[in-house]
Parts: sequence; structure tokens; C-alpha cells
Amino acid sequence: MTPPADDRAPTPAPPTTIDPTTPSVARVYDAFLGGTDHYASDVAVFEQVNAVAPQMADLARSTRDWLVRAVRYLAGTAGMDQFLDLGAGLPSAENTHQVAQRYNGDARVAYVDIDPVVAAHGRALLEENQQTRLVQADLTRPDDIWAHPEISGFLELDQPLVLMQSGTIHHVPDSEGPQEIMERYIELLPSGSYIAFMHFHDPEDDGPGTELARFVEQVFAQGDMGSGFFRTREQLTRFLHGTELLDPGLVRLEDWWPNGPHLQPLTVADQVALAGVARKP
Ligand SMILES: C[S@@+](CC[C@H](N)C(=O)[O-])C[C@H]1O[C@@H](n2cnc3c(N)ncnc32)[C@H](O)[C@@H]1O
Repeated sequence: MTPPADDRAPTPAPPTTIDPTTPSVARVYDAFLGGTDHYASDVAVFEQVNAVAPQMADLARSTRDWLVRAVRYLAGTAGMDQFLDLGAGLPSAENTHQVAQRYNGDARVAYVDIDPVVAAHGRALLEENQQTRLVQADLTRPDDIWAHPEISGFLELDQPLVLMQSGTIHHVPDSEGPQEIMERYIELLPSGSYIAFMHFHDPEDDGPGTELARFVEQVFAQGDMGSGFFRTREQLTRFLHGTELLDPGLVRLEDWWPNGPHLQPLTVADQVALAGVARKP
């Protein structure tokens, strides 16, 4: 049985040195998004997937577009002014704080990432105003995140906030207890908080969707990067137990309040990720 999320050995310090020879999640994602902060080892992972499934790069871009729409809703319509963005990733075209502060001038955003490239390079680009922080820490340790002085001194963790878990829990293997980690976060969140959630999905269609999920999982998780797990809708729904999913639920990214009609037909890659926004009552 998986141990409770924080009933484990003390948290090791996050890595401070960059290993360019081993692909990292943040840098591989940057390669998928067409960024510039990656090495040959990261490009090799990207190319292995891209040669077979070039639509996966579209899925990476769809993730960022979904994130913008979700933050726009949460900062604007829902009026949220505190965001804890776990697994921030390398800076991209539009980041959480830019969108949140556009729709709510009071919004504060704390980013968390374990990757030393994000910590070094991202800090300069993501901490561009007094209302933004970036902390290098391990998101699989919810109690450590809550107790981190740079987070607890910046956000009011006893007031409703938005927890961003976009593209993060699918990098947590079953052996590290993703269910317990999510449960603990949901316990820690004050009522009235939201979770913006996106996770790789195995559509269990016995066809092209599952085939694509299995192939990409094999490259990501069985390869040197070491993570990238495609889970079922049932598992993803269970991760959000104790919250209420907002309309339209846990859906393909392109189906979560799109900006208008789809100009391109959706592809099989659109089936291998689900996203939604949930509220803790
Ligand atoms: C696929 S990227 C997602 C970036 C962004 N959230 C998005 O949805 O576009 C996943 C990020 O999570 C970070 N990450 C993975 N495991 C982590 C951990 N245990 N603690 C903190 N960050 C982690 C990686 O370094 C990477 O930057």
C-alpha cells in the first residue's frame, strides 16, 4: 500500500545542478512548445514522439491555451486573486501571472517547480513584479509546500485560492501516491478554493487513442525522462474527489470553454488529455 503523502523520509533538497545529458520534464515540454531552453537529450525525446505522433506538439500548445482560458475565467469571472501554480514549467508565451493580473490587477501568483533550469532562468522571467514569486520545491510534498516560508509568507493559505495542477500529476508515478497527494492538497485548501487540473488520459478505446497513450507513455516513462503516465477517466475523477467539477466537467482541452467553433477537426491526440476546473465546497 502507498504510504500517506507526507509520512515519508524527509524531503531531499531540490537539485541545484543542471544535467544536460538526462532529459528533464520541463525542458522536453519546452521542446514540444518550440521554445529554446533545452538540450540534445531533451530534443531526442521530442523527436522520438514527433516522428510517430506529430499531433502531440499540438496537444502541448492546446494545454497552454487551455491554461490561459482557465486562468482568465478564475481571475476574471470567479474573481480569484491568489494562485499557487505547481509545476510552472519554463516561461511560455502567456504565463499564469500575466493572464491573472490582466483580469484581476490584485492577483498574486506563486509558482513552484523542482527543475533547476526553471528555478534559475524562470525566476528572472516569471518574477517580473511584486505580485509574483517562484519557489524551487517538490510538489509531491503538499505539507512542505504549505509550510514553505516563501509561499506561506506570500499567499494567504487560509483564504480561498486557485491550485494549478496542470501537466503535473501525470509525472508522479503510482509508487509515489498521486491519489494521496491530491487528497492532501484538497484537505489543505480552504473552502471556496479552485483546482485547475490537466492530466494525460488513456481513453480506453481499444484503438488509436489507447495506442497513442501507450506509445507516448513508453517513450516518456520507460525512457530516460522517467515519467508521463496516461491514466483513465475514472482515476482522474478520483483525484478530484471532495470537489465539485464546474461545467463542462473533465473534458478534452479543446472542449473546455473554447473561444469559438473549432477550426480544425479534433485529432486522436486531443483524446489523450483531459482538463477541468473544480471547486472545493
Ligand atoms: C509538463 S510541464 C507543465 C507546465 C505547466 N504547468 C503547463 O501546464 O503548461 C510539468 C512541470 O512540472 C515540473 N515538475 C515535475 N515534477 C515535479 C515535482 N515533483 N515538483 C515540482 N515540479 C515538478 C516539471 O519540472 C515541469 O516544469
